[in-house]
Parts: sequence; structure tokens; C-alpha cells
Amino acid sequence: MKETIIKIEKALQNELKNVQDLVALNSLKINYLGKKGKITLLKKELAKFSDAEKKEFGRMFNELKVKATTLIEEKVAELEEQAFTLKLKQEEIDVTLPATNLKKGTKHPLTIMIEEIEELFISMGYDVISGPEIELDLYNFERLNLPKNHPARDMQDSLYITGEVLLRTHTSPAQARYMEANKEKTPIRIICPGKVYRKDEDDATHSHQFMQFEGLVVDKNLSVANLKATLELLVQKLFGQDAKIRFRPSYFPFTEPSFEVDVTCFKCQGAGCRICKDTGWLEILGAGMVHPEVLKMGGYDPEVFSGFAFGPGPDRMVMLKYGVNDIRQLYLNNIDFLKQFGRLEKEEN
Ligand code: DAH
Repeated sequence: MKETIIKIEKALQNELKNVQDLVALNSLKINYLGKKGKITLLKKELAKFSDAEKKEFGRMFNELKVKATTLIEEKVAELEEQAFTLKLKQEEIDVTLPATNLKKGTKHPLTIMIEEIEELFISMGYDVISGPEIELDLYNFERLNLPKNHPARDMQDSLYITGEVLLRTHTSPAQARYMEANKEKTPIRIICPGKVYRKDEDDATHSHQFMQFEGLVVDKNLSVANLKATLELLVQKLFGQDAKIRFRPSYFPFTEPSFEVDVTCFKCQGAGCRICKDTGWLEILGAGMVHPEVLKMGGYDPEVFSGFAFGPGPDRMVMLKYGVNDIRQLYLNNIDFLKQFGRLEKEEN
């Protein structure tokens, strides 16, 4: 018995040396201490011996069992430690390596412009609304005082989808839609930025798709003075405190009177230069007092209400403000062009 116990202990120690992982260790444990393990089975043998021998062998057996358990536990700890160290090594991070250069996108110049415009008008209590780009002839023209066959329809080259449906040629239909939708006929203050479409050949100053934003204010006792003050705030926000505007008479079927609005050239402050073609002024938008017929078609009584409207082109404003000389740059998604505005954004913030 004594020899067997010593043999088993030696064998266990030898086998333990060769164990490389926890799975192998577990089967070794079963081999020795499991139900049919070498040590467990040894206990049954004890019965064969005399009481005195039982006492001696029993003690040796218990010692073997404790030793085996301890050895196996130590091995578990050792293997776990090894595994942990290996994992640490594998996941090691070299903090001295240079960082990966993450490329951050930049806002499109038109987005920067529209956001600036929205910020101003929201601060003055306007709502920002949107309208459909696929529009009915009814809202794009008729409700804006442009009945079928009206000669002024030729002012805009339209892209028709069917006889009654077209890609909106301007954001002005937002006026007609909003007046109609406002059933209580309460005062209105809105801007509607968005894309518009014209059947134009693309070149440095024309694009078949560009942006506009419509402004509409309807209330009692509005005059050209209110329109002028509003547009003055707009150009000062976009082109600086010294920017001034001037009104030139013009014609739009949906406004009466109508104006073409110029801003002082931001480059030469009015002295005359190449950008303003020596006039000192840059044309930036069309505007006017809402035509009584348009108010009427929108459900507002022109005897009680008056309104003013304006329709600037953010593309042109971006081109003027940032010196972009080809409108197509705004639609080419040329990264080298666009990323310059990221720097601008940072400087402004
Ligand atoms: N919708 C006009 C255009 O695209 C621009 C315009 C002119 C809008 C006068 C207005 C306005 O609201 O009052 O040419």
C-alpha cells in the first residue's frame, strides 16, 4: 500500500509537469480524484488491512488526497496566470505610436449659409418651413397670380413632369401653400429654404438645380419700410454691419410693387471694383409687397391684411461672400473645394 501511495504521488507530480492547459488539467483531475480516479479507488483497498495498518495507511491516504488537491489547485492558478499574462501581451497597446488621422467632414457652404439665415429669422420669430420639390402648377404659378398663358411664365424655364406637375421653379409656392393651410388666417412669418429647378444649361452662373429661400410676412399695416428693415438686417448679418441695400423697381407677378434688391459690394464697400463691375452694388434678391390677388387666393382679405415677400438665392450669396466664381463648384462634391469651408467654420466659431 505504502508503495502504491508513493507511486501515485510521483506519477501525479510527473503528469502535472506536462500539463499545458486547463482542459488537460481537468481530465487529469478526474483521473486521480474523480469517482473512478486512482486515488478514490485506493480508498476501497484500505478495507483489506488490519486496524493498525488502516490507521497508518489511512493517514497516508488522506495526506495524498490533500496533497493531490493542493497540487492541482496550484496548477490551476499557474495556468490561469499564464493565460492572463499572454492576453495582456497580445492586447498590448503602444501608446507611443502616432494616432490614426481621422478625417472629419465639413459643412457644405450652402448649409453654412442657410443655417446663418435660419438663425437670424428664428431670432425674429419666424417659422422655418419646407415645401415639396415636385409641385403643382396650381401653387407654383396660378396661386401666385400667374394664370396659364401668362407671359411672365417665360421668366422661368420650367421642368414639367405632366401638364399639371413640375419641379418647382422657385420657393414662392410655399407662400400660397402656407396661406391656404393657415385656416385661422392669423399673421404669418415664415421662411422656406430649399432646392429649386430650372431648364437651364449649366455654366459658371447657371445651374439646373440651385437654392432659394422664400420669406413671407403677412400682418396688418405692413409697408415697404418693414420689408426694407428686414432685408437690411439680413445683409448686415451675412455681409457685415456696414452693408447697405438699395431697392430698384422691378416686376414679379406676385408682388406689387416689386423690387430688385442690391447690397453694397463687400469687396470695395461701394467704391467700384471688378466683382461689382464698377457699380459698387451687387444684386442679391427679388422682393416686394404681396399682390392683393395673391393674398385673396390665399384666403386673406387684402383690405385688412398686407404682406411682404422676398426670395434670395443662397448660391449667389455664397459665391459673393466666399469669392466662388463657378456655381457648379457647389454641386460637384469636390472635397478639395469643400474642405476649405471647414477652416472657415472654425475661424467663425
Ligand atoms: N420667386 C422669384 C424668382 O424665383 C423670386 C422672388 C421675387 C420671390 C420676389 C419673392 C418676391 O418672394 O417677392 O425669381
